[in-house]
Amino acid sequence: MHTVGHCRLEAQIADITTLEVDAIVNAANKSLLGGGGVDGAIHRKAGKGLLRECETLGGCETGDAKITGGHDLPAKHVIHAVGPRWSGGKRREPELLASCYRRSLELAEEAGCKSVAFPAISCGIYHFPVEQAVSIAVRTVIESLPSTPSVEHVIFACFQDEMLALYQAALDAQTPPSKPA
Ligand code: AR6
Repeated sequence: MHTVGHCRLEAQIADITTLEVDAIVNAANKSLLGGGGVDGAIHRKAGKGLLRECETLGGCETGDAKITGGHDLPAKHVIHAVGPRWSGGKRREPELLASCYRRSLELAEEAGCKSVAFPAISCGIYHFPVEQAVSIAVRTVIESLPSTPSVEHVIFACFQDEMLALYQAALDAQTPPSKPA
């Protein structure tokens, strides 16, 4: 467990669709109408109500996010973030990925969320280099926290052990050492 200011940060192995948090973040595509990977899992578990709500949103730009209810999920909200598809790194992919984390936390703050869980956005079907993506995720979340006082707990939900190890290393490297009691 790592602490930054008012917020606890942790990486854990978890199916994000099972987490009882105020918001889970979805790694969506621009249509916001579902897909494979974590997006497919979230829509399956949330039920048709989520799709109906997403149909009213008019899609979403890459690097941006939109919020809905959680419908049949244990989470209260779903924040649908559209990560960049990796295409060599010359199309502002790192910047767009950072923007997903920033926008997601802004929306979480506006909705008064205390606990937010992120998947590794762009690290599956969109093929972002995983180590770089994890570093961007942790750095951007830490940088955003001063503007998100509601957010007290951030979980990085990992599907694989290797991903968990990368998050642990990034958290160790990027969070300030805790003060002795
Ligand atoms: N819980 C936590 N993490 C998961 C879960 C889960 N239930 N399922 C997968 N992951 P991906 P992307 C991990 O491909 O790369 C969809 O079709 C997975 O192991 O879901 O941003 C969308 O509609 C990986 O580490 O998202 C888009 O078209 C991470 O979540 C496209 O895929 C993200 O993998 C988005 O691709």
